[in-house]
Amino acid sequence: MEESKLQDLLNEMTLEEKVGQLTQVFGQPYLDDNYEVTGPMSFLAVPSELVPVAGSILGASGAESTRKIQDVYLEKSRLKIPLLFMADVIHGYKTIFPIPLGIGASWNPDTAVKTAKISAVETAVSGIHVTFSPMVDLVRDPRWGRVMESTGEDKFLNEQFAEAFVRGYQGDSYSDPYAIASCVKHFAAYGAPEGGRDYNTVNMSERQLREDYLSAYQAAIDAGTELVMTSFNVVDGIPSTGNRWLLKDLLRDEMGFEGVVISDWGAVKEMIPHGVAADEKEAALKALNATNDIEMMTFTYHRYAKDHIDAGHVDEKLIDESVMRILKLKNKLGLFENPYRAASQDDEKDLIFSDAHRQTALEVAEESMVLLKNDSVLPLEDNGQTVALIGPFAEGEDMLGAWSWKGEAETASSLHASLKSALTSGNVLYAKGSAITETTEEWMEEAVKAASEADVVIMALGESAEMSGEAASRSDITLPQSQADLLKKIAELGKPIATVLFNGRPLDLNTVEPYSDAILEAWFPGTEGGEAVANVLTGKTNPSGKLPMSFPESVGQIPVYYNHYNTGRPAEEREEGRYASRYLDVSNYPKYAFGYGLSYTSFDYSKVTLSNDIMTSDETIEVSVTLTNTGNRVGQEVVQLYIRDLVGEVVRPMKELKGFRKVQLNPGESKKVSFTLSEDMLIYVHQDLTEKADAGEFDVFVGASSLAEHSGRFSLKK
Ligand code: GLC
Repeated sequence: MEESKLQDLLNEMTLEEKVGQLTQVFGQPYLDDNYEVTGPMSFLAVPSELVPVAGSILGASGAESTRKIQDVYLEKSRLKIPLLFMADVIHGYKTIFPIPLGIGASWNPDTAVKTAKISAVETAVSGIHVTFSPMVDLVRDPRWGRVMESTGEDKFLNEQFAEAFVRGYQGDSYSDPYAIASCVKHFAAYGAPEGGRDYNTVNMSERQLREDYLSAYQAAIDAGTELVMTSFNVVDGIPSTGNRWLLKDLLRDEMGFEGVVISDWGAVKEMIPHGVAADEKEAALKALNATNDIEMMTFTYHRYAKDHIDAGHVDEKLIDESVMRILKLKNKLGLFENPYRAASQDDEKDLIFSDAHRQTALEVAEESMVLLKNDSVLPLEDNGQTVALIGPFAEGEDMLGAWSWKGEAETASSLHASLKSALTSGNVLYAKGSAITETTEEWMEEAVKAASEADVVIMALGESAEMSGEAASRSDITLPQSQADLLKKIAELGKPIATVLFNGRPLDLNTVEPYSDAILEAWFPGTEGGEAVANVLTGKTNPSGKLPMSFPESVGQIPVYYNHYNTGRPAEEREEGRYASRYLDVSNYPKYAFGYGLSYTSFDYSKVTLSNDIMTSDETIEVSVTLTNTGNRVGQEVVQLYIRDLVGEVVRPMKELKGFRKVQLNPGESKKVSFTLSEDMLIYVHQDLTEKADAGEFDVFVGASSLAEHSGRFSLKK
């Protein structure tokens, strides 16, 4: 429809119809006239007068079902404004990819483009138009279960992935029926809850919010994300969903977002328990005036918007602007011409969970894995040796992880079966050893027996899918005790042990590392996780992942992250003295650092060269290094560039990631890797919130992780 016609449509709408567009409900009322929602979820029941005017549907899927809902709705709708269908497709629809933290560990944004594109195809043919992804919240606290949904602790890395996910979902044009709209979330700073406890208070200065937490959302906006979802938390004491400074002044006016803002699930009404709204009526007032467009799953707008307009507390113009943003989105997606868009039962059969999609899932899972330790145990040789495979993830445990909606755990490839087919000349002995959180004498005995008969042991250990994701915060981030006991028992046999971890967060590995000669971080690897792990264990694929988030030495260090400040009493500068910033009982440093990951081959970094040691506003500096594969296998290395601003108006991080290159080299091959440093990369948020770079000196670090050695120094002259 011509956009000019949208204004005519808006002019025809009654106030009730306008407010209906601002409410998202579930699909039940359109599938079952006699549906009812009883018990604690009874508040979900959609007021009958809202049914013919609601604007969008949460969580419906399937071509048949979404078409039915659309048909029933359009039958009831006076102006025939089609419904939008939205859902959480976070790391795949039915073909499930590694959790986003794993995709981030690939340090290859193309994996996000590829997985988002495939997710979009499977989602679109199921009749869904919008996915509530990417989640780009910066995270520094692995106690928080939702770190699994993010791409980690660094804003620069998160920016690259945010842009890539949006590009993958939305493609170049909605004329591609398989493109879907993305919704970046959760705005803002949801990843910084106190204590790592979900939904808890977020407390930070506006300067830190701007310095560390906004740029990935901005990257998604610049990539064209159609929606932004508000976060459950407060920002400077005001819940995001009712925070006009955050949503209007910052998001819309300053960051330039022109699309639709949708509340998180029930977040409008949650302003009551937050204590900033006395009742639903006041919650509606705050959210409307904050320019939150869509209320998800509660009905305060429907009940009170008219009262606020009649009382002059909400300008109807503001409602019209929200409705127009929603009508424009529906129009962009072509829903007025084709309200079903790509919903097709035939395409569902042909395209969902296709071999091609699963092949991509395999490749991305392999690329997401991080080799944390390898004292010459891996890769496993197919040389007739006997391998014992022990642990809950050997077979039958959910490898898909949280937020894997239509994915079916039982369809995932089995590590046991995959390892057996990869090691044909030897023997693979299997024993469960332990479930996720409990074991039995019998399981333990079987495991000890299998290990005692083996030449090498593979332990497949980890968290259950429910132990991470939303509302899954843990105060203790070690492996469940029964699995730690199993590993320790097996280690007493003195056999070489490689431990594979399936988890949704960085873990405290103090009950794993001392008993493992090798450690492979597999995250929740998705549909092809079993085969992917087997391919990496046997060397068919050389691991190339790097940590997108630090693994703490202990939960007591949290938050521990690479781009920390130096403090006035840095431990390194006060080696002996007591009075330094250090613990009495643990180091300041993580067990495994941001950007760290090993390979089955080895790489040599030449001396780093800088094209100049003076940068000006229009003269850049080229930083170069020659990387050589000094091993005997093809391998990929992620060359990382960090800088340090030695003196700022405010304290500056010890290191900041400013570039990375993933390079594949054959054995013996060398390649020059270069980065261009420019003044814009030195910009930071000053005390007065202005963003600019200062003249001064900067150190450069180039290497294989955030532990990269000092490589050079330059000055910015202004
Ligand atoms: C949930 C999550 C959000 C999700 C939404 C819809 O509570 O916080 O990420 O998109 O509700 O399911």
